[in-house]
Amino acid sequence: MPQLDLSGRTALVTGGAQGLGEGMAHALAAAGARVVVADLQDDLGEKVADSLEGDGHGFVHLDVTDEGSWENAVTAVASGFGGLDVLVNNAGVEISSLVVDVDPKDIRTMLEVNVLGTALGLKWGLRAMRPDGVAGRGGSIINISSVAATIAFPGIPIYSATKSAVDRLTRVAAMEAGKLGYGVRVNCVYPGLVPTAMGQGLAVDMAALGLFGSPEEAVGAVVELTPSGRLGEVADIADAVVFLASDSARFVNGIGLPVDGGMGM
Ligand SMILES: NC(=O)c1ccc[n+]([C@@H]2O[C@H](COP(=O)([O-])OP(=O)(O)OC[C@H]3O[C@@H](n4cnc5c(N)ncnc54)[C@H](O)[C@@H]3O)[C@@H](O)[C@H]2O)c1
Repeated sequence: MPQLDLSGRTALVTGGAQGLGEGMAHALAAAGARVVVADLQDDLGEKVADSLEGDGHGFVHLDVTDEGSWENAVTAVASGFGGLDVLVNNAGVEISSLVVDVDPKDIRTMLEVNVLGTALGLKWGLRAMRPDGVAGRGGSIINISSVAATIAFPGIPIYSATKSAVDRLTRVAAMEAGKLGYGVRVNCVYPGLVPTAMGQGLAVDMAALGLFGSPEEAVGAVVELTPSGRLGEVADIADAVVFLASDSARFVNGIGLPVDGGMGM
């Protein structure tokens, strides 16, 4: 479909070394974008970049919680990969716990990666993409929130809070980018449960916390809550990211798009 043609655009995907981010990198490359995978995991990230369809893709080491790391990554992408048109703030962590057992160290970790990491991504992405930036031709930023920002699922209180923060950050960033003429759309996606390393770990945790009899029972409960009657697949989420990155979504701005088979309605 020509509207989903991203050729001539450069996309940076954080947390792109595995899971949903890896799928997003493949889908963006298949749509014609030059893709830079950004992650803490250098070996895995480089492998993903090498496996993408087409030429000109690459890997950059990025710790999303570190300001200097962001500045280096964005500068390297803009100068070495022909600009920066699409940024997917996908890197995230989930540590399950009941509210009565939350651990301050785990809370800080989730706040750092999910909230600080996304906020710094917005900061450096918008600075690069706005007219006076190192890339300078506007673009699309897509933040990865979660269905956990839209429903109350037990065992993930802090994760849910951080993903709600990502949702709100998205709206304010879209508003500022519009008011200040940056030419950047900012949206977020609420994925449903996808059995990546994180998704599978979550089901195991639900059982360990005594909320469900087994991981399979936890998965069954999620499917039961989902009108589409199944878990998400990596491609379900990746295709939504390509849509939001593309000109087909040119008048879609400041939204949270549920890609959850209806679980969060
Ligand atoms: N899998 C699901 O069911 C699900 C559902 C809703 C939302 N999400 C969200 O989607 C995103 C991707 O999830 P996933 O399932 O692929 O997880 P995952 O754990 O499989 O992959 C996460 C990736 O993020 C990277 N990462 C972690 N901390 C980082 C940091 N400080 N800097 C750079 N990279 C870092 C990891 O190295 C890893 O490659 C996350 O934001 C997650 O919260 C996942």
